[in-house]
Amino acid sequence: MSIIADDNTNKKVDINAKNPVIKPEAVEYDRNFENSIRPKSFDSYIGQSALKEALKITIEAAKKREKPLDHLLFYGPPGLGKTTLAGVIAEQMGVEIKITSAPALERPRDIIGILMSLKGGEILFIDEIHRLNKVAEEILYPAMEDFYLDMTTGKSQTVKTLRIPLPKFTLIGATTKAGELSGPLRDRFGIIHRLEFYTEEELAQVIKRTAGILEIEISDDGALAIARRSRGTPRIANRLIKRVSDYALVKYDGAVNEKIANKALDVLSIDEYGLDNTDRGLLTAIIEKYNGGPVGIETLAAALGEDSRTLEDVCEPFLLQAGLLQRTPRGRKATPAAYRHLGYRNAVEQQNLF
Ligand code: ADE
Repeated sequence: MSIIADDNTNKKVDINAKNPVIKPEAVEYDRNFENSIRPKSFDSYIGQSALKEALKITIEAAKKREKPLDHLLFYGPPGLGKTTLAGVIAEQMGVEIKITSAPALERPRDIIGILMSLKGGEILFIDEIHRLNKVAEEILYPAMEDFYLDMTTGKSQTVKTLRIPLPKFTLIGATTKAGELSGPLRDRFGIIHRLEFYTEEELAQVIKRTAGILEIEISDDGALAIARRSRGTPRIANRLIKRVSDYALVKYDGAVNEKIANKALDVLSIDEYGLDNTDRGLLTAIIEKYNGGPVGIETLAAALGEDSRTLEDVCEPFLLQAGLLQRTPRGRKATPAAYRHLGYRNAVEQQNLF
């Protein structure tokens, strides 16, 4: 397909206009913290071992051939290290990475500008790629497949098509919802990998590594206590270690052990499964208001005053994985394990109470 430059206004695309790459000063504190503790090499990247081995081979082969990597798609729940892994890949390939996300690529000139700013071999990372709009997607197709952009200028009779070659680059897409990616876009990724939840032991290692960087003293059992309540997710583990360390500093001498970690997590209302108030609120609403379900996600979101996307993307993946929630064609259901975990009787007895 051809693209009318700059939203049909016939203006030339100014690639220096509003650069959609996320600028360091624009990102919030939490992102800065995440960046500061991000591993830069496969050796310091903990977990996802099968994926790491597969990627190392892909990288070696690309280096031997002296060619850029195939386009890569990472999918899986949020917080499992998709952006981090893209950074590690760039480091191993010895190339620059430009990081953006689909919602920042709203206008044609956003994606065109970023594609034209790439140099040979560089990596373009697009987070939440399932949210890319149709126009941006269609600009990406020839860019990914044959490394060119087709742009048209002028109107009807005077229309001219300009084919602009692009350097050979690698697109790394990340999504929490692989199912929402269009078929044609998915088909253009040569390599597709799913990121898995982390084991408690892996999370304990992540916590100890982060504690080391932040100069927090922590025992092995302290790290494991936090890991157990981190929902298989390093992003959560890294947030919790900071909160637990605050508690240890204010109430004790700053060092974290199992007892202090458990006390701090209780104060934070994070339970033994790692569920917080929002997770428990979701399950409780299904049980108490909808007889255990099934209930639609929009209805639930309205009942809880939460955004349905937050529930779907942030809360649900772990609740499903932990066997506390079931997704059925008619909506969400609380499982017997959810009833037990929240201290309710079983579903049948509970329903008779309401
Ligand atoms: N921080 C976040 N994710 C990590 C990982 N996979 N390994 C080490 N540190 C991390």
